[in-house]
Amino acid sequence: MKHPQLARLKSVADDGIQAFLDRWPADEADGLYAPVHYLMALGGKRLRPVLGLAAAEAEGADAAAAMPAALAVELFHNFTLMHDDIMDEAPLRRGQATVHAKWNENTAILSGDALYTLAHIALTDLPGDALVRVLPVFNTTALEVCIGQQSDMAFEQRSDVNVQEYLEMIRLKTSVLLAASLAMGAAVAGASERRVSAWYRIGEQLGLAFQMQDDLLDAFGDAATGKQVGGDILSDKKTFLRLHTWAALSDAEREELAQWDGRTDRPADKVAAVQAAMRATGAEAAARERMALYVADARRELAALDLPGTWLEAFESVADHIVTRNA
Ligand code: IPE
Ligand code: IPE
Ligand code: MG
Ligand code: MG
Ligand code: MG
Repeated sequence: MKHPQLARLKSVADDGIQAFLDRWPADEADGLYAPVHYLMALGGKRLRPVLGLAAAEAEGADAAAAMPAALAVELFHNFTLMHDDIMDEAPLRRGQATVHAKWNENTAILSGDALYTLAHIALTDLPGDALVRVLPVFNTTALEVCIGQQSDMAFEQRSDVNVQEYLEMIRLKTSVLLAASLAMGAAVAGASERRVSAWYRIGEQLGLAFQMQDDLLDAFGDAATGKQVGGDILSDKKTFLRLHTWAALSDAEREELAQWDGRTDRPADKVAAVQAAMRATGAEAAARERMALYVADARRELAALDLPGTWLEAFESVADHIVTRNA
């Protein structure tokens, strides 16, 4: 996020997160808080808090007013990552060992629970009227993310998932949190329900493109992702890339590739075979075509918001970043 307004808000978010975490020193409950500090210190893009702070400023508030909401979404996001990495058996996160790999699964479960609780503690620093407005959004979002994650896991075992089901799954596991980040930032700034809903829809569209880019990076990315490339293929994730590929293959080719499902004995060969099929069927181009539609929808809604100053430009740069990023 190179736009100066976003770069500034990234450092505001970083400082706010650091100040908040300093309230829970690792030495007070080492086995619980050390993994929290470890994952949070690895940073990441901090996209969600930046979106929340930016929406608040674009709606005329100070970033400081939206900090509790920004903290809540980033703490919640990191909670989902800590548990997601157990579920996905992921060895790497942000270029380092995942919490369950560095400690153990029980530690990652409990420190994840602590992060979820910290998210609520952060949120309750909002003044009462703002809290009443955003708490239902936050809680509904949290539950929806769980539903999305459940579908994501269940789809690993299924071979009849369709694109519609995939889109609903990624809307739930990923989009709703980007949507809530924007909507909560706008709500804290006192925006009308109509505008808060528009921000939410913008986040939903951007979130679909964001997760499709994440899936592309998982299949074809490099070390810059900080994650294990090919992890989705190894766990038979029903990504758009996989659905597109399976639909484009002949019955014989599909049967040939199906022998890898459920297998982990030759990981490099499995990843290479599926990547080759994805390349041969033009899965990336098909995904990018769809992502461009979501970004266009988001841009249309953004333009209709009639944002002050250079905020439209700033949010358009976020949209571009989401589909061009390499991490
Ligand atoms: C990863 O999110 C999880 C998804 C929803 C795809 P990010 O790509 O935002 O991860 P960080 O926070 O920047 O590391
Ligand atoms: C993660 O989706 C979504 C949530 C954590 C809720 P992924 O499993 O694709 O995320 P990464 O690729 O591990 O970051
Ligand atoms: Mg996952
Ligand atoms: Mg994962
Ligand atoms: Mg992923």
